[in-house]
Amino acid sequence: MATIAIYGAGQLGTTVAQILAEVPQHTVLGVFGRNDRQTALTSGADVVIIATTTKFKDVASDIELAVQSGSHVLVSSEECAYPWAVDRALADSLDTLAKSKNVSISGTGVNPGLIFDSLVLTLLGAAPRGCTVAVRRTVSIAGFGATVLRRLGMGFTPEVFAERVKREEILGHAGFPQSMTVVADAMGLTIESIDKELLPLITEKEIDLPDRFVIAAGESAGVNQTYTAKVNGKTWFVSHFYGHVDLPSIGKSAVDEIELSLDGKVFQTITLKPGIGSQVGSKNMVANSIQRILAAPHGWVTVAHMEPAFPESL
Ligand SMILES: NC(=O)c1ccc[n+]([C@@H]2O[C@H](COP(=O)([O-])OP(=O)(O)OC[C@H]3O[C@@H](n4cnc5c(N)ncnc54)[C@H](OP(=O)(O)O)[C@@H]3O)[C@@H](O)[C@H]2O)c1
Repeated sequence: MATIAIYGAGQLGTTVAQILAEVPQHTVLGVFGRNDRQTALTSGADVVIIATTTKFKDVASDIELAVQSGSHVLVSSEECAYPWAVDRALADSLDTLAKSKNVSISGTGVNPGLIFDSLVLTLLGAAPRGCTVAVRRTVSIAGFGATVLRRLGMGFTPEVFAERVKREEILGHAGFPQSMTVVADAMGLTIESIDKELLPLITEKEIDLPDRFVIAAGESAGVNQTYTAKVNGKTWFVSHFYGHVDLPSIGKSAVDEIELSLDGKVFQTITLKPGIGSQVGSKNMVANSIQRILAAPHGWVTVAHMEPAFPESL
């Protein structure tokens, strides 16, 4: 039995509330937007879910307020999958605060949160020592709202796309260094470097995204991202992300693939077909994480140190 307050009245927050409202063990105090920040974060709910935005620095004070008020926190911000990767001092201070309040904080979602990290760790459990990892995700990003789509980099000419990437206004899909570091950290490996490539996928025809905006021919309708992490001078983990607003129009369909290799040869490949949908996967993962955040060790925990998520029986 838990009381739950949700901060962030967007797509994720509202759909998570719908799922949790059906679980009789829980009471959803409400989905709160910006104007009700104080109510949401100081409600003293058992669990506060923060589903607002991507960067750690933009949610850190919200997390702090909820923890000060005695709540466990689940946060969907991609950088919160491993906040030490962006600001070690701030992550440590929130970790210490959560421990002092006997509560837990964790990033949650599917990317990061499952496909590029906890699923990889689970598969490595049955693999020999020394495997390298490649994860390839092809996914429809058509279901996101306008803010998320713009941040991903949709609707820009190649020139504007490149400029905005430089200014960090376009992030592509965020969270890959976090996922890789979650896996490395759990295994006691030190990542030396992570190389990043973020390319726009330019559409040849206009694409209308109802209730959001129209992508003109010659503008970005997808992103092709590759992150390559090195350990001991060698490539250890490669993350590929291919997200598009209209996959069928370019002859592709959603798929997730995790490949483990040993001494340069493929050891095992697991394919999820169709791949896990962005919206359906995320809303379920967040809603299904109530029990595991209540059971987690106190402090800031990554998915490597949490029980798996699963739907609660009604
Ligand atoms: N880890 C994962 O797998 C995963 C999965 C899904 C989503 N996410 C992330 O979770 C976040 C929410 O996703 P979504 O699809 O629900 O996005 P959304 O539909 O754009 O909703 C976000 C909501 O939060 C509000 N908001 C934005 N920035 C805020 C801030 N700094 N303080 C308070 N409220 C703020 C927005 O209000 P306004 O409209 O007024 O700006 C909007 O109501 C995004 O950053 C998304 O990338 C992560």
